[in-house]
Amino acid sequence: MKKITVPAVREAKGQRKLTMVTAYDAPSARIVDEAGIDLALVGDSLGMVIQGKADTLGVTLEQMIYHTEIVARTAARALVVGDLPFLSFQVSDERTIESAGRLLQAGAAAVKLEGGGRIADRIRALTEVGIPVMAHLGLTPQSIHQMGGYRVQGRDAENARRILDEAKRVQDAGAFAVVLEGMPAALATQITDQLAIPTIGIGAGAHCDGQVLVFHDLVGLSGDRTPTFVRRYADLRVTAVEAVRKFKDDVESGRFPSEGESYH
Ligand code: KIV
Repeated sequence: MKKITVPAVREAKGQRKLTMVTAYDAPSARIVDEAGIDLALVGDSLGMVIQGKADTLGVTLEQMIYHTEIVARTAARALVVGDLPFLSFQVSDERTIESAGRLLQAGAAAVKLEGGGRIADRIRALTEVGIPVMAHLGLTPQSIHQMGGYRVQGRDAENARRILDEAKRVQDAGAFAVVLEGMPAALATQITDQLAIPTIGIGAGAHCDGQVLVFHDLVGLSGDRTPTFVRRYADLRVTAVEAVRKFKDDVESGRFPSEGESYH
């Protein structure tokens, strides 16, 4: 099984569509890997998806390192990307390099960080010391309060221009790919056509060079309300509740465990 590399991701542009799915633990990393997904993203979305928080702001670098270690240990083929959480890269270049370096020591092959022009210098600082960076533009969840909620970005001409300009700046700073989240498909198309690096979309239309979804949304393990852009490919929560309910019934009625399920 050949490991996906950062250059292979860059070279996929215009050749084939890329796929990325979040993984936070060994079971999800194993599934993502076995399905042949290119990139396993240890996203700070884990704050909402598995810690049950309202946003991603409380996720710490230590937590990201813990989950990155687990995913990197499990994924044999997918390129593991570790998300830099809130406050781990905003303060200084030095702090950014230290935070990103710790994610690489935990087994990630690259890091992702949110933000546009403001963090172009951070991207340059990381790439200069050999740390591959995936940028993240548009709806950036760590800026939830600045955006006034999880809102589609770049709907008006001025903001669309700003995001396009940011995309060029993060590319020039050395990013090897960029996530485009929550923006009109026409804007994501324009960015994709004008960049030499791959764009990976989430709620950004079909024209991106690749697509990313949160694992729990994709397999139906999130709550009932998922964003419009999510396609739920399975309903594992219903299946799991049914299985656990059957276990409960079997225990209560004495059908579990059977003789064969007991030691003698
Ligand atoms: O944290 C995350 O899972 C992400 C993806 C939704 C792109 O940033």
